[in-house]
Amino acid sequence: MVSTRMSSIVDSPTMTISAMAKKLTSAGLDVIDLGVGEPDFDTPKHICDAACESIWRGDTHYTPSNGIAELRQAIAEKFWYDNHITVSSDDVIVTPGAKMAVFAAIQATMDEGDECVLIGPSWVSYEPCVTFAGGRVVWADVDEEFMPHDLAEFITDKTKLIIVNSPSNPTGSVLGADVLREIRDLVVDNRLYVISDEIYEKIIYDRDHISIGSLSGMEHRTITINGFSKAYAMTGWRLGYLTGPPEILRWVGRLQSHSTSHATTFVQRAGVTALRSSQEMVGSMVAEFRTRRDLMIEGLSELGMRCTNPGGAFYLFPDVSEYGGGDEFAKRMLSDALIAVTPGSAFGPGGSNFVRISYAASQERLKESLERMAKLVGA
Ligand SMILES: Cc1ncc(COP(=O)(O)O)c(C=O)c1O
Repeated sequence: MVSTRMSSIVDSPTMTISAMAKKLTSAGLDVIDLGVGEPDFDTPKHICDAACESIWRGDTHYTPSNGIAELRQAIAEKFWYDNHITVSSDDVIVTPGAKMAVFAAIQATMDEGDECVLIGPSWVSYEPCVTFAGGRVVWADVDEEFMPHDLAEFITDKTKLIIVNSPSNPTGSVLGADVLREIRDLVVDNRLYVISDEIYEKIIYDRDHISIGSLSGMEHRTITINGFSKAYAMTGWRLGYLTGPPEILRWVGRLQSHSTSHATTFVQRAGVTALRSSQEMVGSMVAEFRTRRDLMIEGLSELGMRCTNPGGAFYLFPDVSEYGGGDEFAKRMLSDALIAVTPGSAFGPGGSNFVRISYAASQERLKESLERMAKLVGA
């Protein structure tokens, strides 16, 4: 009875793990949930206040489908000073979450039979979005640091799109200027599009984030996506945005106007406050994430676990092939150590030797998780 298109989509594995962890917790077990994909900080109060004031002012009606003018203007300015991408507010569409922007941009670019290149282990929702559009994912190889190699070999005459996600979920890897330039050259030579998902842009350590859309030649080939979930701890608010070539934005706008309509009105108002007020909270959140990353990297290395030191996001992606691989290790972690992590296979075929550990948890809980892991692996 179900449409063929819908039956090709599977449940999000990260949501499934989180649901299992919550179930065990509600059964009274002390589960440490390191499967989460959201900052464990509260949304800053001044942003919450802006939303409340907006409701009391009566901002409870429809807005233009592409978003309110003030927010689109603030985002256009942000693209300029953070990302060196020059756009006007007309080139910005506000969406209910970056996920909707990713979904819509993929639907707008991919045709039946087109190929989309994903670079190594990649966020769980890209492939279902491509499948939904009738396209096919091609998984490009990465090296031990999760950097692409021989990317050109994965481009065919059916390739339409490459998705770049730096800093990356699940590996935390950050693509440097050289790699981005190589991708740019391939994209320009083969007349492709890039979706650059920059949702972890602000959560980055010891280096600057580079937007591929700012490289010369990429102005008309890049769809840049971002959102408020990670930088401002606003996952539940559902607020994201994108910019890109007008021929793509036109279809994204139409898709949105016939589906979700627009992001929630007072949430858009809060978004203006988030962008236009002090960014101090972002800095202190990132400092805390960095301390936790260091703590976990040191702890895992004491356990003898191989793990690259990620340059951004709040995930570690250790190699657990010695412990039976990602699926087996994630199962044992939950059943024997009461720690929820995500098996790397959720992020594509290149992830099966790994698990994703989110360090969006307090230092105390992370230390406790390392102690439990030490018992589990007999270190
Ligand atoms: C790489 C990546 N892109 C997009 C999203 C979606 O973010 P949003 O909450 O804005 O929909 C996530 C959320 O986990 C993510 O990890």
